[in-house]
Amino acid sequence: MRNVNYIDIPSLLEARKRIKSSNVIRYNNKEHQVSEVTLNKLKGKKYYIKTHGCQANIRDEETLSGLLSSLNMERSEDINEVSIIVINTCAVRENANNKVYAEIGNIKHLKEKLNKDKSKDKNQDLILILCGCMVETKDTLDKLINVYPYIDIILGTHNIDDLITLIDSYLENKGKNRLVDVSSKEGDVIEDLPTKRNNDFSAYVNIAFGCDKFCSYCIVPYTRGKERSRRVEDILLECKLLKEEGYKEVILLGQNVDSYGKDLKDYTYKGNKVSFATLLEEVAKLNIPRVRFLTSYPSEFKDEVIDVIAKYDNVMNYIHLPVQSGSNSVLKRMNRRYTKEEYLALVDRIKAKIPNIALSTDIIIGFPNESNEEFLDTLDLVRKVSYSSAYTFIYSPREGTLAAKMEDLTPYQEKVKRFKELTRVLEEGIEKDNLLHLNKIEEVLVTGVSKTNEEYLSGQLENNKTVNFKGDKSLIGKLVKVKINEDKLYSFNGELVEK
Ligand code: SAH
Ligand code: SF4
Ligand code: F3S
Repeated sequence: MRNVNYIDIPSLLEARKRIKSSNVIRYNNKEHQVSEVTLNKLKGKKYYIKTHGCQANIRDEETLSGLLSSLNMERSEDINEVSIIVINTCAVRENANNKVYAEIGNIKHLKEKLNKDKSKDKNQDLILILCGCMVETKDTLDKLINVYPYIDIILGTHNIDDLITLIDSYLENKGKNRLVDVSSKEGDVIEDLPTKRNNDFSAYVNIAFGCDKFCSYCIVPYTRGKERSRRVEDILLECKLLKEEGYKEVILLGQNVDSYGKDLKDYTYKGNKVSFATLLEEVAKLNIPRVRFLTSYPSEFKDEVIDVIAKYDNVMNYIHLPVQSGSNSVLKRMNRRYTKEEYLALVDRIKAKIPNIALSTDIIIGFPNESNEEFLDTLDLVRKVSYSSAYTFIYSPREGTLAAKMEDLTPYQEKVKRFKELTRVLEEGIEKDNLLHLNKIEEVLVTGVSKTNEEYLSGQLENNKTVNFKGDKSLIGKLVKVKINEDKLYSFNGELVEK
């Protein structure tokens, strides 16, 4: 008989029973068994996590961290001193995958070195765990399993809560078997998993998981599963606790926040059906200094959301509104469900009610067979909207998506040329937008030390842009007033005027 220890993480068995009966399940800090061997082996040891990809993955990193901390492990940024390495992967574009393959290659050398140094129990000295979106597509998973035998545990995006059980089983087997757990449980919303936040001033709060949109280029619906909303009570509880802990900002997360609640069939909150606008208003009323949300989907963005942003000062005047393309024919091939005209009409309604709104966007250049005329439509839209910032990508075919099967005769060099031209036009708008902020005094959330100069701090303006200014590290996590005095295009320099 193995010795049994209890630590404070949810019971998987209990959870699985409930999954059968309901979509939204609660874990109330149930106990879960972990062997004495595992606890003793890992207690006081260190773990390293590298996260790629979007905010959904960053939030998952905090859960992975919480689970590993519950084994009394400590986080380290030095890969050479740790017992567990977790690589939290992204599959959205080919170069995201390639970065991970290179990383795993480097870890192979680390493992070989350790194995040379010790002969006994050698497989257990460094456990390599791969999780995140890359392991959710069949071809990539096959490659990971076949080409990289030294990955010890593979964990799907729906299986994060199994992390401890897997580590326990792996060690119980003395590292002899590698474990792969990518079984889909995509109907679940699992509450109350332990969390160790990356900072103590700005927090991501999931409001919905997955995506049902199936844009033809995008892998996310395949890696994250169908859309599942959390209940309003659970979201508000998480936000209230964050407020009590002194957080200055919450960022509500969903691949498409505007469809929040649509899957909660018979659910009501205070007797009413819920929508993103009603949720946003409830969160705004908690009086956390800053509330943001990501990401909005143009055709589902309701005017009620505009009203909530306009009504509450603590809802930041910033909307990330990905357009992807300004051409109606490309939008159709992308399976985006709006036209250029509808998008521009929405932008007009937003600007009419919130004159100082900052808009950012995502644009894909070189979607299969994008013609020059189609590209020019995108430039035209970009000129009309005048974004304050933008994320631009060259189309990357993803195996298993519809677009990957489309004919694409546009030469890559042409795509690169269009990408540069798009950047130039976007920057005209950014320059115009930056002028509105120059010489103004604005509120800034101090997020850390500047990446380029130790003596400078970095902070975030209401419009989500960075401003660097001289100041003491003790201000990190505080809201301060900064005078903006230099425009660096993608950021500003400023000077602290009031703490
Ligand atoms: N849910 C969000 C973001 C999803 S992924 C939304 O719908 O906007 C983030 C961005 O990556 C997308 O907005 C898109 O611009 C880009 N992207 C997704 N798939 C891509 C692909 N195959 N090639 C290039 N860019 C892609
Ligand atoms: Fe991908 Fe489209 Fe869903 Fe965004 S809305 S995650 S781009 S499928
Ligand atoms: Fe990447 Fe997955 Fe996010 S594919 S962008 S980490 S949802």
